[in-house]
Amino acid sequence: MPRPVVPRSADGERTDATPRHVACVMDGNGRWAARRDLPRTSGHRAAEATVIDIVEAARSAGVRWLSLYAFSTENWRRPGEEVDYLLCLVRRVVRKHAPLLHARGIRCRFLGGADARIPAELARDFADLTTLTSRNRGMTLTVAFDHGGRRDIVEAARSLIRSGAAPEAVDEDSFAAHLPFPDTPDVDLVIRTSGEQRISNFMLWQVAYAEWVFPSVLWPDFRATHFLECLNTYQRRHRRFGGVAADTNGEPGS
Ligand code: IPE
Ligand code: IPE
Ligand code: MG
Repeated sequence: MPRPVVPRSADGERTDATPRHVACVMDGNGRWAARRDLPRTSGHRAAEATVIDIVEAARSAGVRWLSLYAFSTENWRRPGEEVDYLLCLVRRVVRKHAPLLHARGIRCRFLGGADARIPAELARDFADLTTLTSRNRGMTLTVAFDHGGRRDIVEAARSLIRSGAAPEAVDEDSFAAHLPFPDTPDVDLVIRTSGEQRISNFMLWQVAYAEWVFPSVLWPDFRATHFLECLNTYQRRHRRFGGVAADTNGEPGS
């Protein structure tokens, strides 16, 4: 018998608590810039302030896991200049904010980065921040860079096959153990800014039962207050995980 994706109350549950794992698809930088008649890169630069704000807001709100989607395996299709800008920007942001993240007790790690086009210096900076903060016990911040949910699943399948596991011994838990960072809990809430409503290949396995919110505000304008509104929306949802919500007589939640 397959086990439930998220083993919580069989009757579903109201989510009064702060979500344990929040993931953000940081979208809308290009449109932010276009509205100001600026090059797309200005939008990416403006995104930095939001990242810092949201990391702090999440930490203060008691979120234990925050994942930020910064660059997808599909984003390599963008013009070379924009890609180069993003590679430089993430490196600068990582180096600049490493002391603050460490001082706040945040454990940082990077999801993705298998592509040969990732510069060696960037891979080193990612590794350095990961090592520096690896013993921190505060919030875990996962930055998804050169990330693709499908790639992670394919890699997990390869790793599982290499391990010699018997097919009948493979279940959801043993499969998930081959994904990157298998200690990561399922995502509770995904926030995608800019009004776009799609997954875009983000943490496909981990979002199986996430709640989604789609604020129309563009990522560079997204602030702590917007983030807290998203948490509020989440807390009014009823999560059922395929069961029946006992406290609503089966009426769908908001
Ligand atoms: C998100 O903003 C940042 C990245 C994908 C790197 P976009 O650059 O996708 O902004 P829009 O969607 O074009 O407005
Ligand atoms: C998804 O945004 C990736 C990130 C936010 C890093 P995109 O803007 O690249 O997604 P699509 O192309 O609109 O689906
Ligand atoms: Mg976009």
